[in-house]
Amino acid sequence: MVEMLRAVLTVLYWPIQLTLAVALIYFSAKCLLIMYTLSPLYRGRLPYVPTRKKSLQEAFSMLEIEDGDRVVDLGCGDGQFLVHGARKTGAKFTGIELNWLLFMISRLKVFARALSGRVTVQRSDYMRVPLSQFNKVFMFNMPSCLKVLVPKLEKELQVGTRVLSVVFPFSSKKFKLLETGGTKTYRLFLYERVN
Ligand SMILES: C[S@@+](CC[C@H](N)C(=O)[O-])C[C@H]1O[C@@H](n2cnc3c(N)ncnc32)[C@H](O)[C@@H]1O
Repeated sequence: MVEMLRAVLTVLYWPIQLTLAVALIYFSAKCLLIMYTLSPLYRGRLPYVPTRKKSLQEAFSMLEIEDGDRVVDLGCGDGQFLVHGARKTGAKFTGIELNWLLFMISRLKVFARALSGRVTVQRSDYMRVPLSQFNKVFMFNMPSCLKVLVPKLEKELQVGTRVLSVVFPFSSKKFKLLETGGTKTYRLFLYERVN
């Protein structure tokens, strides 16, 4: 019995070591990236703070994304929302990301999971991208960004479009708050374009 256990452990030793090494590199790289975008080196751009996994799942179900929807993540970071969504539904997802490194990571993730047919990642400033084609919007943006972004949403999104904002609420006569979710410190706000 002991011999058998030893043999199994011998076989599994390198795969386990390799998995641990990959996980360590992945999480260290993610932490370094977050620290970099929070540092003055990043020159005041919106930092990369990924939405928590649990909130991401909740945001996804609050948006009620279905096959046929056209969904956009404004500032998609490492593409986690796009990948999560495309695995769950047949909707079409677009991620817009300004930071080239995050853009590359998103693209790689989409490619590695063979989701390129349904997920598009664009490297641009979302302020320059027309948004009228989307009927579901996911975003995690600071209030300073929402100040300039909300007038664009008011101008371009069609009536009935749903917008989910992570952590930061916004006020607009053209959007009705339908629902809030998340936790006390990590809230989710779901809006619908009403007029
Ligand atoms: C708080 S992170 C959210 C990332 C991702 N959406 C998530 O929830 O995990 C905001 C992202 O928006 C990107 N960003 C900031 N301003 C942008 C802009 N004007 N156009 C496109 N992306 C932008 C940042 O590089 C960053 O990755």
